[in-house]
Amino acid sequence: MPHSKIGGGVTELQPFGAILDAADRGDDLRAIPVGELEELTLQHRVLVVRGLDMLPKDELVEYCRGWGELLEWHFGHVLDLDIREDPQNYLFTKGDVPFHWDGAFAASTPRFFLFQCLQAPPAGGGGETVFSDTARVLREASPSDIALWEKIEITYRTDKVEHYGGQVTERLLSTHPVTGERTIRFAEPLPPEQYLNPLFLTVDGVSPEEGAAALEDLTRRLHDPSVCYAHEWQDNDVVVVDNNALVHGRNPFRGDSTRRLQRVQIV
Ligand SMILES: [Fe+2]
Repeated sequence: MPHSKIGGGVTELQPFGAILDAADRGDDLRAIPVGELEELTLQHRVLVVRGLDMLPKDELVEYCRGWGELLEWHFGHVLDLDIREDPQNYLFTKGDVPFHWDGAFAASTPRFFLFQCLQAPPAGGGGETVFSDTARVLREASPSDIALWEKIEITYRTDKVEHYGGQVTERLLSTHPVTGERTIRFAEPLPPEQYLNPLFLTVDGVSPEEGAAALEDLTRRLHDPSVCYAHEWQDNDVVVVDNNALVHGRNPFRGDSTRRLQRVQIV
């Protein structure tokens, strides 16, 4: 993957994202000022911090409180993302996870989410987390594309099987609360014949034909490699994500690969 060092231990990824080599900064995340990491995350959208020790769950939660209020679910603040024997939800299968933003069904939308990787899949084992930069898609869209997208409002509906669920209506276009950029809020439908815990979409504001064509076109643009960064996990990666600017998903795992991530959502 092409990348360039820009100093301060930071290496830029393509088409966006950055790696901070923090091996000489201290033992764990607490050695680096939150403000520095937040700034790098807003600038690069995805910040990978390498060279640090992982934190035990309770210390991870305490650390993340330094970033802001945390979303809390029935399991607490830390979601264990692993492959389960008897999954009730597609997140815990070996399959793919389509694009979405976090917190659509939550009381408030996380500004950031932070992962730590306790166990990466073996090389070639798949399971990359894929990020798409919606602000970049909008910058490359024509005024008529944007005029059409501005009219669209989508209602999402899913049963609450895991920690989230219900019904929510969102405009397709939004504004980044920090940078002021225009962004896209879109979650891909999860058809019941393909996914556990399906997600259904209803499009309003345009005709059904216009809506279907617009979402097909938008999906193609969001998946264009020129706007996507696929993160191949390594053990002890910390990854912080700008949830407002991006949508994200996961590639399927290959073979019998395993992976253990922990995720905290920061409001
Ligand atoms: Fe997610």
